[in-house]
Formats: sequence, structure tokens, C-alpha cells
Amino acid sequence: MATQTKLRRELYINGVWQEAEEYRLLKSPYSDEVIAEIPVVSEKEIEMAIEAADRAREKMAAMPAYERASILEKVVQLLRERQEEAATIIANEAAKPITAAREEIKRTIHTYKFAAEEAKRIYGETLPLDAAPGGQNRTAYTVKKPIGIIGAITPFNFPMNLVAHKVGPAIATGNTVVLKPASQTPLSSYFLADLFHEAGLPAGALNIITGSGKTVGGQLVEDQRIAAITFTGSPSVGLGIRNKAGLKRVTLELGSNAAVVIDQGVPIKKAASRCVKGAFSFQGQVCISLQRIYVHENIYEEFVEEFVKETRKLKVGNPLDEETDVSALISKNDIKRTLSWLKEAKEQGAEIRFGGETKRNALLPTIVLNAKSFLKVSCEEVFAPIVVINKVASMEEAAKEVNHSKYGLQAGIYTENIHTALKMADKLHVGGVLINDIPTFRVDHMPYGGVKESGTGREGIKYAMEEMLELKLVIFNQA
Ligand code: SIN
Repeated sequence: MATQTKLRRELYINGVWQEAEEYRLLKSPYSDEVIAEIPVVSEKEIEMAIEAADRAREKMAAMPAYERASILEKVVQLLRERQEEAATIIANEAAKPITAAREEIKRTIHTYKFAAEEAKRIYGETLPLDAAPGGQNRTAYTVKKPIGIIGAITPFNFPMNLVAHKVGPAIATGNTVVLKPASQTPLSSYFLADLFHEAGLPAGALNIITGSGKTVGGQLVEDQRIAAITFTGSPSVGLGIRNKAGLKRVTLELGSNAAVVIDQGVPIKKAASRCVKGAFSFQGQVCISLQRIYVHENIYEEFVEEFVKETRKLKVGNPLDEETDVSALISKNDIKRTLSWLKEAKEQGAEIRFGGETKRNALLPTIVLNAKSFLKVSCEEVFAPIVVINKVASMEEAAKEVNHSKYGLQAGIYTENIHTALKMADKLHVGGVLINDIPTFRVDHMPYGGVKESGTGREGIKYAMEEMLELKLVIFNQA
């Protein structure tokens, strides 16, 4: 079937573009203009998608690794050829500034490339059974088998790359997928279906359905045929999934209020400029966005001054404009929510040193000083261009502040002192510690995931693949 290019997209089920029973309008978060018509999947259509994924299971499980790798390689090639088109889709549907959208596409290409490579490296091991009495004269080895159907539920903030982090490992391991992308960013996923279709993925191996999170998510999580759920999104939805998933494997990448510590003696300009990037890239709508900065009191004023100076340079505007650094938030509700959190901060004695206002559907980059730890801008995930900068008297105090959070995804520490660096690496209760960098760092093969309410399990292709494989033991009795 030919690639779809029209404004109205259809469901992608069993390798075929299917008209849905119902549609809704998709609007640009920046301009509010209608940009597409999107299917709202019905229960019957969800069932068709699961059924298709179930039927394709045997074929995918039997497909040799080199063929799975070759399909993923082909996706890499197609995406390379259509990079600008892909970036524009992201900019339009997510209001991600076009330069950041291009970066996301470059990363997505790497993510699929890693998946293609890792597809060929699924190893088991041999076991010395004679280590236990009674185990003599037996040869034992393990193999890793695809787990089955993966239910993938993805967020709006990296609509190509976070989909790649679920679909890439699923195909690399010989599984099949039912993908439900975020309601605001379905176009990226339908574009991806075009690529996999052209790359020759068997019918039913990837099915894409769009509709309400409750209906689709609910049905995927409760269906007995789905073996694993991989979800990136809010902690409350993640918890709901975990409670309903029964015996399914569940990987959850949830929220965070990521922090960095700035010790005295570090190059302040360099650290401040990097922190501005971490706090405001894609309007702060990144799980590892820098939300809290704890600065040693001896350099606090100077750091804040530099930080404000760098922030002033940011351009707020149209995501398609090459100059834009910060654009619209994903929804008007998020504008309302963040303004009310800023109001609370002001009323409780914090200082809004910069920003705090809106421009069209965007919130200006906002710097809050001296915010108490119980304030929402501090303890909840803001997912907006808001950063809190607080003073600390010592690195011990800083570590306590960073750990005083219900989240624990990644954290950073800038210091010139190796002992402090190693101590902090040990003490910070998070999934990843960045020394002399912001927590807003990720390349796509590293293990990525959090502790506490930031989630369970790890992504990063090789690690995500482990979550999608079943270990099988074979024992050969030679006695
Ligand atoms: C996320 O928001 O969880 C993903 C961050 C990234 O991939 O850079």
C-alpha cells in the first residue's frame, strides 16, 4: 500500500492503513491552527490491532536476527533521507523549536542504528551445573526468546525518539508491538509507520492506534495477550498501569524534578550557560529538565547574575523559526497550571527574578530564587521553562536537598574536587549522576531510568531489550 501523505491519517493495523469510525482535529499548540485529522480508535479497532500483533508473533519470533537488523537499517536509511520532513512534523505537532526537532531526529537515527546492531547481539550463556551436587554430566545453556506483544505508550515530548526507544528494541528482539502515541503528537508515529512499512516489516508486527489514553491504555494494560507494557509519562498514570498490569512486565519512565549542584571553584560562566540549556530546552518539557539548582553560597550571586544574563538571550516564538529557543507549552492547561504554581511561590516568599509571564501560548523562561522545598515549583515536576536557584552552605546540605524529592531520575554535580565528585556520585539517590554536567544529558545507548517515583526498569537500547526478552534454560543430560 502506498505511503500516506494527506492531512487525514488513518489507523495502521496489520500492515494496512485503515479508516477509523471516528476522527478528531489536531491543533498546533503554538498557533491553535488545525494541522490534521486523527483517528479516535474504538474498542473494536483496538481489538483488531491486538489480534494482528498476536497473529504476527510467530513470524517475528522466527525471523533471523540479520533480517530484523536489516529492516531496522532500512528505517535508518529512510529516516536519513527524510530528516527535514520528520523534524517539521515534530515542530508542528509538539511546538518543539525546529533546531531541537532536528537534534531529535539525529538521535532517533542513532537509536534505530543501535537497535539494528543490538539485534545481532542477543546472547545466552553456558552454566556449570556441576557446581552443585547432582548437577554432574549435564550441559546447560540459556537462550533469550521474544516475550510476545509489547504494548507501548509514548509521551509527546520526544515523539520520534521516545517511540524509537520502544519500537526499536521490540523489533530488534523479534516481538510485535501495539503502539499508542501521545494524543498531541500522533503524526510522528504515523510517519514512522510509513518508514517501517517501506522497510518491509511484516504485517501486524507494528500497529499504531490513536485515541483516548484511558480507553486505549486501559485495554492494552488489561489484555491477557499483551506480555509487556512500556510506558513513558506521568507517575499517576504509571502507577495506574502497574496496579492493573497483573503479571505483565512493566517498564515505567516517569517524572522528575532533576537537580544540579554547583560547588565553589568551578568555571561559573560555563556552568551557568550549560544550566540555562538544561532548564529551558524544549520549554523544560523533558523528564531530565533541570528544575532545581543548588549553588554554594560563596558564588551564588555571581552564578545567578550569569544565569539571568544567558537567559535574556533566549528567543521565544514560532517553533518553525530558526532563531527560536523557547515556544508554546503543549497545552493551555499547562500554562494555567504553571502560572498558579508561580503565584503560590510568590505568595510563599520566593522571588521571581526573571520571566513569570506568558507570550501567546508560551511561558517565558522563568527564574525563581529562594523557593522553599515544599513549593510545587520545587517538589513537583514542573515540565515547563521554570527553574529554581537556591543557596547552600555545603555540599552535604546540597546532597540532602537533591535527595529530598519523591523523584530520582538523574542529577548533576559541578565541582573541581574529585573527592566531592565521588562522594556525591555515591550519595545522590538517582538513576544516573553526571559529574561536571547537567542532568539533562542523554545519548541513546546509555542505561536510562530512575528510582523512587521516577519509574522502574531501564531504557537505552540494550537495556530495554532485556526487558523484552524471556530467559529460557536448556539442560542436556548426558549421563
Ligand atoms: C525524557 O524526557 O524522558 C527523555 C529525555 C531524552 O531522551 O533526552
